[in-house]
Amino acid sequence: MQRSVRLKSFELVARDIDDVDVKLLHALSISVRWPHRPKDWELLRRAGRGIVAVDGIGRVFGSAMWFPHGNDFATIGLVITTPRTQAQGGGRWLMDLVLKECGDRSLTLNATHAAYPLYVSLGFTAEATVYLRQGEVLQTLPVPNLDGELKALSSDRLKEIAALDTRAFGTNRERLLALLSEDASIYTLSRSGEIVGYSMCREFGGGFVIGPIVARDELDAIHLTAVHLKNLIGRFVRVDSREKDGAFAEFLQKSGLDIAESVTTMSKGRRFLNREHNEPWVYGLASHAFS
Ligand SMILES: CC(C)(COP(=O)(O)OP(=O)(O)OC[C@H]1O[C@@H](n2cnc3c(N)ncnc32)[C@H](O)[C@@H]1OP(=O)(O)O)[C@@H](O)C(=O)NCCC(=O)NCCS
Repeated sequence: MQRSVRLKSFELVARDIDDVDVKLLHALSISVRWPHRPKDWELLRRAGRGIVAVDGIGRVFGSAMWFPHGNDFATIGLVITTPRTQAQGGGRWLMDLVLKECGDRSLTLNATHAAYPLYVSLGFTAEATVYLRQGEVLQTLPVPNLDGELKALSSDRLKEIAALDTRAFGTNRERLLALLSEDASIYTLSRSGEIVGYSMCREFGGGFVIGPIVARDELDAIHLTAVHLKNLIGRFVRVDSREKDGAFAEFLQKSGLDIAESVTTMSKGRRFLNREHNEPWVYGLASHAFS
């Protein structure tokens, strides 16, 4: 009897991501060691649209999602194929389907090292590096003196930060902020009665993510991050930021959040990141998929 066998290859079909059990999506992200909980997938599905690659008996082997903001812009994320099926054309096929759905929108995404060549070949160009910083929050936080007033914001008052967020992000994303705020704690920083920054913190994966963090400068970003961190001493927290050096990056490092990996912000169509002096800036991302 021979000791090896060549199994028949199988066919994958594209299905709407809303049509599969969230447990299958959870298993998919676990297969590539991503921390998403079923609850995180539920939020992603409510925030955007997506496609899954399913075999003849309903098993999920891949996914790709997109998150529209109006008719001319979207972010892309959750592009995954299971390790067993990688490097066989599945990732490109899923991306082709998603790009078709996105139409002529300008697009942005955060590429892992594994996915970078695929996105380059699809016409995306690199704009910046995002550093994933995470760890258990240390007892003593190096927080400088506060200039301004930090206040909790309830989720029914998101209108107060919408314009500021649009200036920082470049596109109105009120719908997404409303979804994120359902389970987030939100703080604003004000000076002379004007809101100059805000931050959100929510549970994600095995811990918490602080983001978006929108501020005019590093000092404000530090305060808007510290206000959450002080309630999370000893807990596992993550911040995704494009700041590599400087006061904000140093503050995160000294608070216990070390760089775990980096991804590349890429865009197709109009340029995504347009930083201007004294204008609000996204110091912490809502998530990789949401940019
Ligand atoms: C990134 C990922 C989605 C790619 O999916 P995939 O099914 O392997 O992709 P494909 O087989 O369609 O290959 C697409 C391109 O990627 C590159 N590629 C894929 N596997 C590769 C490998 N092992 N070595 C080098 N390049 C590789 C090739 O450039 C290929 O281009 P080609 O079509 O000209 O050959 C998959 O590796 C994955 O899920 N990785 C873990 C999760 C992740 O990082 N997701 C990306 C989030 S931004």
